[in-house]
Amino acid sequence: MARHFLTLGQLNAADARSIVMRAIELKRANDPSHRPLLGRTLAMIFAKSSTRTRVSFEVGMARLGGHALMLATAQTQLGRDEPLADTAKVLSRMCDAIMIRNDSQADQEELARHSRVPVINGLSERHHPCQLLADMQTWFEQAGDPAGKTAAWIGDGNNVCTSWIEAAKLFGFQLNIAAPVEYRPAPEDLALGGGAAKLFEEATDAVVGADVVVTDCWTSMGREGEETQRIAALTPFRVDAALMQRARSNAIFMHCLPAHRGEEVTTEVIDGPQSVVWDEAGNRLWAQMALLEFLLL
Ligand code: CP
Ligand code: NVA
Repeated sequence: MARHFLTLGQLNAADARSIVMRAIELKRANDPSHRPLLGRTLAMIFAKSSTRTRVSFEVGMARLGGHALMLATAQTQLGRDEPLADTAKVLSRMCDAIMIRNDSQADQEELARHSRVPVINGLSERHHPCQLLADMQTWFEQAGDPAGKTAAWIGDGNNVCTSWIEAAKLFGFQLNIAAPVEYRPAPEDLALGGGAAKLFEEATDAVVGADVVVTDCWTSMGREGEETQRIAALTPFRVDAALMQRARSNAIFMHCLPAHRGEEVTTEVIDGPQSVVWDEAGNRLWAQMALLEFLLL
């Protein structure tokens, strides 16, 4: 049976760590002659927009000697209601892996059930596991092993937050989450942290002692209709310089991007000295390559 990557929590701690270590190694070596995926193809199904995920998978496959196919759902028969199960059976016979970004973790699981080849979650409404591989790589590179340290998630308890919760358990750090009551992670998502994630009412309390301060947009793709009430509820959870000052003096700031300056983060913070967001975005490439090796070799 193919090994899938639909959530970070599907990995055990040793595998999660070894993928991140491999990403660091691939980046250091930067070896264009390393082409273990020669002749292999990744199908990339996108029902939602993407810059980083698309580019990192496409460039990553090319660097490893393979090829990636962009399948925007609207331009495929999926957009005309061909079932995911049928699509999985067809793609499995021509491609070596499938990446999917859509609004349904349940549909991704359905795709995986019918696929003979690995299925990768490139973001769903509930998880963003690929992002967390790059985020953990960035934390290791910038500040050493996350084990025993603390991160503070400030803002919307969204898909990226859920993958941070799973990362906290796997990599052994504490995750302090400050979100408005109505935008807290669901109890079942919080439970994925196995005690590593803790809720706070105030952002100012969550960041105390934090080695990493992380946030994401307030209005995720597909939630655009809720933007006004989200801005109202989330404004007290903006990451600004005063909030960063309450974290550890060497704390780093992370954000999966795209960012909305003046909403979830101020320009001063995201473009300031504690921000590592560009390395974090660049690491998507190496993390994706390490994941592809893990799933395909
Ligand atoms: N962080 C992230 O997944 O970015 P994209 O939406 O551009 O892929
Ligand atoms: N939470 C965001 C992440 C984008 C990469 C969204 O789902 O739109």
